[in-house]
Amino acid sequence: MVVAVALAGCGDNGQNALDPNSGPSRDIATLWWGMLIAATVVFAGAAALLWVAYLRRARKGLPRLGEDDRTARGLVVGFGVAIPIVVLVALFAVANFTVIAKTQAPAAGSTRMTIQIIGHQWFWEVRYPGSKAVTANEIHIPSRTRVDVVATTADVIHSLWVPEINRKIDMIPGHRNHILFYADHDGVFRGQCAEYCGLQHAHMSMKVIAEPPARFAAWLRTMASPRRAPATPETQRGEQVFLANACASCHAIRGTPADGTIGPDLTHLATRGTLAALTIPNTRAALTRWIRDPQHIKPGSKMPHIDLGDRDLQAVVAYLQSLR
Ligand code: CUA
Repeated sequence: MVVAVALAGCGDNGQNALDPNSGPSRDIATLWWGMLIAATVVFAGAAALLWVAYLRRARKGLPRLGEDDRTARGLVVGFGVAIPIVVLVALFAVANFTVIAKTQAPAAGSTRMTIQIIGHQWFWEVRYPGSKAVTANEIHIPSRTRVDVVATTADVIHSLWVPEINRKIDMIPGHRNHILFYADHDGVFRGQCAEYCGLQHAHMSMKVIAEPPARFAAWLRTMASPRRAPATPETQRGEQVFLANACASCHAIRGTPADGTIGPDLTHLATRGTLAALTIPNTRAALTRWIRDPQHIKPGSKMPHIDLGDRDLQAVVAYLQSLR
């Protein structure tokens, strides 16, 4: 069972705290190995003492540890109090002052930008201050750039965790917590909500996409722009259906009257690779299934079932797929 549990952490899902891709996550991985070694030494020492005690019961003439009160007291004070205090204080000091302190250090002479990530049941809203860009779940950042992430929540407590980039940061109502996102190189790093937040906590994932600064700037310009106006009769019909139904009261599509804030901003939905916080791929078939029966795919989510009829449903899907 232990082996099965250990192996469950393997596999390449792009989310591995021991495969660091930034300074803070490298420090955390080193700290983890240090703690594992320290814990192994403590465990081996305790097991050896237990083994000696066991042998002594069976055989006479072995070292007589703790037979008298003074030795017993010394052993308890030493192994039970003094050594644990020293070890725990040392680990705390190393973890807090050398590792954790650097996870949100201010930029020192490097390019800096701020993004805001807001936890929702159950998706991640992403805003880029200074730009009109609003997106969800697929968080683009420029690589080799220190990004100050401001983490907040729209409802309950969530925890933002991209293990290959940095530690967890709680998203607490009424608080603005900070974490540093810095990717050593271009890449896609998977993240996950790390604080139980309700029925679909397990389906609250996100990706951080680190890309060259020029490409990121182009992406951000696209995200900041209003929606691409529908160009075909079908997508025009889709936009009308979207605006005439409940879709528009929960979702925003900039450039249209739809300005809901309950669900993710859909202005450039078609640029995203996934739907519903990485639950399903953003394909025509999956999007159709999602709109037709969201509660089957993500029970408990705020996305309601709306009876559109087949032709209107296909038109809405075509419209959403045109929002690049
Ligand atoms: Cu959000 Cu768990």
